[in-house]
Amino acid sequence: MKKVTTLCAAISAFTLSTGFANAAAHAPVLSIDGVVIATSAPAPDFLDMDEIFSGWVYRIAETQALQMNDFDNPGMIFVDIALDTWNRVEGSEGKSCASCHLAGPEEFAGLRTVTPRWNEEAGAVWSMEDYVNYSRVEYMGAEPWKVGGADMNGMVALISLQSRGMPMNVAIDGPAAETWALGEELYFTRFGQLDMACANCHEDNYGVMIRADRLSQGQSNGFPAYRLKNAKLNGIQSRFLGCMQNIRATPFSVGGPEFLALELYVASRGNGLSVEGPSVRN
Ligand code: HEC
Ligand code: HEC
Repeated sequence: MKKVTTLCAAISAFTLSTGFANAAAHAPVLSIDGVVIATSAPAPDFLDMDEIFSGWVYRIAETQALQMNDFDNPGMIFVDIALDTWNRVEGSEGKSCASCHLAGPEEFAGLRTVTPRWNEEAGAVWSMEDYVNYSRVEYMGAEPWKVGGADMNGMVALISLQSRGMPMNVAIDGPAAETWALGEELYFTRFGQLDMACANCHEDNYGVMIRADRLSQGQSNGFPAYRLKNAKLNGIQSRFLGCMQNIRATPFSVGGPEFLALELYVASRGNGLSVEGPSVRN
């Protein structure tokens, strides 16, 4: 396994301070309205680390508390809006999601734990967004939603909620292996003016303060995430985009093949962590 070195030249651009490296050891238990969330798990075999942690573990107590019941979680407002959207007729076929998915969003329990995943008919790895847009275009005769847009993030949050508490379990072998390998390569590739890889921050330095933020392992089990910074739900690929901009790299495009590969790889690094959706983050 490639192992990147720790932050070096780039440090000058940030304020790093250690001393709280094992934040996780002091973390309270996350239980959301009685559903217990696994915020730590043994690391998957392919990782050169022992334990994996949800980003929730690294947030301050006030932010953590917002996620402990749905009444306080501002992300749930967007889930409520998505529930209205679920029943809204759109497109040339005169259908809503509810017209076909008769059991309601509950039909999708468990789906979030295994996406992105290989879609045999399409002959490609599909994200949740791909599935939703396929239904919109092919079955409803409606316009696809923008990946990372408000409608899509709300619907993905509604679908993710049906898997809350279930462990992430994306497949990385078989036909998904090629996409996964690209994701792994990108994760360890240095980009941008700061010449940094995802791994430099999220594998080598998690627990460390960077500016006013504590670095997490950059896990995706909490997405879509409500960010206090922009007061809305954020899709996982938009988060990748933000991280690339922070290292002054030209980001890949949201909805493009590089971020999809990265999404699968990052999801696999979190196999074993519970789906939180929607989470609350800085
Ligand atoms: C300069 C350090 C740095 C680099 C490099 C970096 N990130 Fe981040 N990332 C952050 C910070 C800071 C945050 C916000 C605090 C946290 O959760 O770590 C963050 C957050 C995240 C999150 C959200 C985690 C959560 O639970 O909310 C994900 C996912 C993520 N990064 C993925 C990536 C990926 C993929 C790459 C490579 C393309 C990358 N990051 C590169 C600093 C970095
Ligand atoms: C005209 C019928 C129809 C409508 C309307 C429709 N879908 Fe679907 N959808 C299907 C069919 C058929 C499939 C493939 C079989 C399956 O998995 O249910 C599917 C698959 C899916 C899947 C993947 C499920 C899986 O387990 O692989 C998701 C997610 C989904 N639809 C979401 C939606 C959403 C969200 C809407 C509304 C925006 C919607 N669908 C509207 C018929 C429809």
